[in-house]
Amino acid sequence: MSYENLELEKRDGIAVVTINRPDKLNALNSRTVDELEAAFKSLGSDPEVAGVILTGAGDKAFVAGADIAELASQAPIEGKTFASRGQRVFDRIEGLGKPVIAAVNGFALGGGCELAMACHVRVAAEGAKLGTPEVKLGIICGYGGTQRLPRIVGKGRALEILMTGEMIDAQEAYRIGLVNHVFPKETLLEEAEALLRKMVANGPLSLRLVLDAVGSGLDMAQSDGQELEAALFGLICASEDMREGTKAFLEKRPPKFKGR
Ligand code: COA
Repeated sequence: MSYENLELEKRDGIAVVTINRPDKLNALNSRTVDELEAAFKSLGSDPEVAGVILTGAGDKAFVAGADIAELASQAPIEGKTFASRGQRVFDRIEGLGKPVIAAVNGFALGGGCELAMACHVRVAAEGAKLGTPEVKLGIICGYGGTQRLPRIVGKGRALEILMTGEMIDAQEAYRIGLVNHVFPKETLLEEAEALLRKMVANGPLSLRLVLDAVGSGLDMAQSDGQELEAALFGLICASEDMREGTKAFLEKRPPKFKGR
């Protein structure tokens, strides 16, 4: 698929996906949502890609939301389909099985904030603004925001953000745990890449199972989550990477993981 609204660059085992509609502050129209789905589908099965950075083009926005021009005309049934479609695509990102870091380079509003929350880790540029202004438009989040935000920052903080519709700045987002780090704008991508490279230097199977254990475990009782963890631990004990990682430690050399 050739992309109209995305740029996809692969280098040295990672991919950088840039949402590229800067004149509309990278707002997610349906074509962009389709392209995100296609891009993440191919990245998920690409053996050359161990992790992904997602960011926005231009110097103003990560993503300023779903495209308001498109959503203004939604009727009830269409509206449900619209939300479910976006949720499916964002679930695919969260379920990629490889680390995905959102490099929030500016406004991350509404669907843009929801997109960042579907990524596993968020880092933000100084000056970035995050929020869910849907209530100001007379709507609510439809791409998972009411569910992911309280899981990330807690119910009370999430409800304040969701019900005021006000933006918070990068420092406040850091304070409440919505982003993991704040970096100067000029070095944001470099820092995101350095963080991603620390992750992908580890065994790809380990990363996949950590994502599975945390992702599924958060929706379970702790005892069920620990059952899952033990089962996944057993599974990884059957891997060549487990043999290699432990052997390399004992032989005092760096491991060479193969993802098997
Ligand atoms: N959907 C569609 N178009 C959008 C958009 C969105 N979510 N966000 C911004 N744009 C467009 C603007 O309409 C404008 O297009 P135009 O030049 O053709 O008029 C362009 O992007 C630039 O935005 P503008 O509003 O002029 O920039 P600004 O710096 O004055 O304000 C924001 C920036 C982010 C505060 C403002 O664009 C905004 O509030 N956007 C909507 C945020 C929102 O409610 N998102 C949730 C949607 S569910």
